[in-house]
Amino acid sequence: MDALESGRRYWETTGATKDFTHPVHAEWLAGVDRAARILDYGCGYGRVMAELSDLGFGTVTGADVSAALIARGGRARPDLSFELITSPPVVDHPAASFDVIVLFAVLTCVPGDADQRALVAETHRLLAPGGLLHVSDLLLQADERSRRRYAGRSPYGVFTTGDGAVCRHHDAEYLRRLLADFDITAERHLEVPTMNGNRAAALQLLARRR
Ligand SMILES: C[S@@+](CC[C@H](N)C(=O)[O-])C[C@H]1O[C@@H](n2cnc3c(N)ncnc32)[C@H](O)[C@@H]1O
Repeated sequence: MDALESGRRYWETTGATKDFTHPVHAEWLAGVDRAARILDYGCGYGRVMAELSDLGFGTVTGADVSAALIARGGRARPDLSFELITSPPVVDHPAASFDVIVLFAVLTCVPGDADQRALVAETHRLLAPGGLLHVSDLLLQADERSRRRYAGRSPYGVFTTGDGAVCRHHDAEYLRRLLADFDITAERHLEVPTMNGNRAAALQLLARRR
């Protein structure tokens, strides 16, 4: 079984019971037309979609590999529009279909370099030129427990949680390089609670598609 398939199985089972936490930085979206076509890539149960809808955005689509998380989202928010990703990283829409994509705590679940590059390339395809990518993800943690978890894994920063998810924490410069086909226009460091109740350093990036 490849890494993407084993990840999907986690998100269909144990992962589908978790609560997610990275906050939308609304300030970055303040100037965005409320009619903008927004994709929440790796939307989970639609937490960020609900927040965007509450901010007044009326055209928000969520896509995820986990049918269980989508079903949970559909029960909680039947007004939101969810789609299943059946052949990751492809989201079945024509090129340039979206004005904004949010990618929150998804790279951390896709540990391989090549899989991450393919995912970011898909967001580039889906965005219209000039469109915005709002990324939020976890950084390498400096504490002893994290360093023990990273030891011996490749790339550095990959680890397995106590309940079996293979995750990745990132070097900030690596995340910036991953967005080489975008212009990064803003970034902010923050601390977020993780899905397992710890606290972790995170980075948010706002990038414009070239
Ligand atoms: C930590 S959760 C974050 C969910 C949501 N973005 C949020 O912040 O509330 C990670 C999400 O990524 C999804 N995911 C995992 N692997 C994926 C992949 N290869 N492509 C798209 N989504 C994926 C999981 O199913 C899960 O919903």
